[in-house]
Amino acid sequence: MKQLHILYFSPVGTTKRIAEEIYNGLTPEEVHWIDLSLPENRENPLSFTDEDAVLMVFPVYAGRVVRLPRYFFKKLQGNGARAINVVTYGNRAYDDALLELSQLSKDAGFVNMSAAAFVCEHAFGIGLAEGRPDASDCEKARNFGKLTARKWADDSLDEKGLNIPGEMPFRTQFRHDFGGPLVPETSEACSDCGVCAKSCPAEAIDRVNPRVTDAKRCIACFRCIRHCPKKARAIQLSDFVNHAKWLAETFKERKEPDIFI
Ligand SMILES: Cc1cc2nc3c(=O)[nH]c(=O)nc-3n(C[C@H](O)[C@H](O)[C@H](O)COP(=O)(O)O)c2cc1C
Repeated sequence: MKQLHILYFSPVGTTKRIAEEIYNGLTPEEVHWIDLSLPENRENPLSFTDEDAVLMVFPVYAGRVVRLPRYFFKKLQGNGARAINVVTYGNRAYDDALLELSQLSKDAGFVNMSAAAFVCEHAFGIGLAEGRPDASDCEKARNFGKLTARKWADDSLDEKGLNIPGEMPFRTQFRHDFGGPLVPETSEACSDCGVCAKSCPAEAIDRVNPRVTDAKRCIACFRCIRHCPKKARAIQLSDFVNHAKWLAETFKERKEPDIFI
């Protein structure tokens, strides 16, 4: 594999870890990392050639590909580049997300080479899939990279054979169905340092007054909650808190990565 481009979106960081392990298995001659969590990296269109391979790694939100990288597909031109489509999810389910990602890649002119879904710690911080990806997940991710590199070298592409689960039309992604907008609230512990506003992938937090979050822009990714040095941010809506507890209880049983090659 010569040129590999890695497009990833990783508010809390677990998706990036999966991308790194797959990359370790792919061992390309040259790599370009593109962090789509940074708004500036979503501004300009990106175009590839059929000599390129592009690893796409995005988290699942409510059974779909999280919306910011999903919207970025309008600016992507595959031109026959090979796509390696990967989603990460928090041990509930990836539902239609991997099929959706494969479809997005195809529609943008990529040729789908392989796909996978990896379990990562749930961003809600509720003890679901805690500590994942673990050593076993990382080994599977590296192995997935190796198998994909071999497929690329053999040029044995058979898109129809991937058989990715999911249903079309894709499910409607929830927006504000927790009895209010799903956005973090800020407590008195806030020191107005602005760390949250600077790192927000959606540019939803006011830079002058970081206690103000734009509910229409916020994707509830939990990055600000994790990054806040004062632990001043949280989502406290009781419907959401109850939902999170239910998730943690109901989806305790360990799920393993799914690989399509
Ligand atoms: C708003 C939101 C919705 C989510 N929806 C799902 C879901 O439908 N199924 C699931 O198993 N995990 C879900 N997750 C968990 C994430 O997919 C998982 O934590 C992912 O690893 C986060 O990636 P990151 O650490 O790179 O931010 C959701 C997380 C968030 C923040």
